[in-house]
Amino acid sequence: MYDYLLGGKDNFAADRETVTVALEAWPAARTAARENRAFLGRAVRYLAEEAGITQFLDIGSGLPSVGNVHEVAQDILPSAHVVYVDKRPDRARARAGLLASKPEGKCATSMPTCVTRTTSSATGPPGRRLTSAADRAILCAVLQLHAG
Ligand SMILES: C[S@@+](CC[C@H](N)C(=O)[O-])C[C@H]1O[C@@H](n2cnc3c(N)ncnc32)[C@H](O)[C@@H]1O
Repeated sequence: MYDYLLGGKDNFAADRETVTVALEAWPAARTAARENRAFLGRAVRYLAEEAGITQFLDIGSGLPSVGNVHEVAQDILPSAHVVYVDKRPDRARARAGLLASKPEGKCATSMPTCVTRTTSSATGPPGRRLTSAADRAILCAVLQLHAG
């Protein structure tokens, strides 16, 4: 549903039907979703372009949609590394099949992790493989403003 609200193409008929009904009850839902995603994009763009961040840990990444973190970061910095973490196994599996990193960079999905319990498991394999102590600090960001 989130993807449909964002104007993406990775959604199902049931998502579109449910969103149509939901928008009648809450017309601002589309604006809220787009503003949330736009904030994510602005934050990542600023960090890659101006703050010198080269590695990103996206916690609560959800399903792939419009403006994924690695797309935004690698548009600016093709060698950026991104690890996606989500507590829901279906989210992680969906991402695993849809990661198209630029050849100079890397991106991966870390297996299901609930970061409220432990952050160290979020940086386990493949996170550990992607991160380098010699490089700029990793950004740990919880961007899940309306997560369930
Ligand atoms: C709506 S998506 C947000 C997608 C993207 N971060 C954004 O803001 O556009 C929220 C995701 O956060 C995940 N999530 C919620 N709590 C979490 C936690 N404690 N650890 C990891 N993932 C979590 C949910 O499973 C859901 O897939």
